[in-house]
Amino acid sequence: MSSDDQKNIDLILLTIGVLIGIAVGIFVIARDVSNDNMERMQRVDARYQNAVEKRIKPFGSVVKDGEIAADPAVVAVVEAPTAKVALTGPQVYNQACLACHGGGIAGAPKTGDAADWNARIAKGRDVLNSNAINGFMGDKGMMPAKGGAMTLSDEEVIAAVDYLIEQVQ
Ligand code: HEC
Repeated sequence: MSSDDQKNIDLILLTIGVLIGIAVGIFVIARDVSNDNMERMQRVDARYQNAVEKRIKPFGSVVKDGEIAADPAVVAVVEAPTAKVALTGPQVYNQACLACHGGGIAGAPKTGDAADWNARIAKGRDVLNSNAINGFMGDKGMMPAKGGAMTLSDEEVIAAVDYLIEQVQ
């Protein structure tokens, strides 16, 4: 190896050393600068804090009667999905009535059994609707209000009574 080669190698090693030094220097400076910025933003900058507040704000908020919703657009978004579609008679029946009426369990008049139903139908639709919605204690047993499914609307329960009556007519 000539002394020229040796010089070139020394030069390359030196260059690499200097480059590594610069890289480490840049790294240290960048880290300090970003730490500094982060701290300033988190502790001091009101705009940054507002932005964070906004991002972590709960999706919805409760607006009591008489209060004005802060942001009507947000209220609209929250309310839209809760607008629920009414269940049909058979759907309500399967969910909330079938368990007792399907098999005539616990004194419940059995679905489709005319002998069980005719005397009840004779009481009139208003009585049946009201007893199904509010529940009642009869001679045979206890009919829970709305079959125990309190999330059903009155209309949905009436649709299920319609369905029960259709099965014996
Ligand atoms: C936990 C059991 C049970 C469930 C669930 C139930 N019922 Fe009943 N239901 C009864 C019983 C028991 C009676 C009879 C009570 C009696 O006459 O002594 C009855 C009676 C009725 C009657 C006759 C009322 C009358 O005045 O004679 C109607 C109508 C009725 N149920 C509708 C429904 C509908 C609609 C649902 C579903 C939304 C439902 N029931 C769910 C137990 C149940």
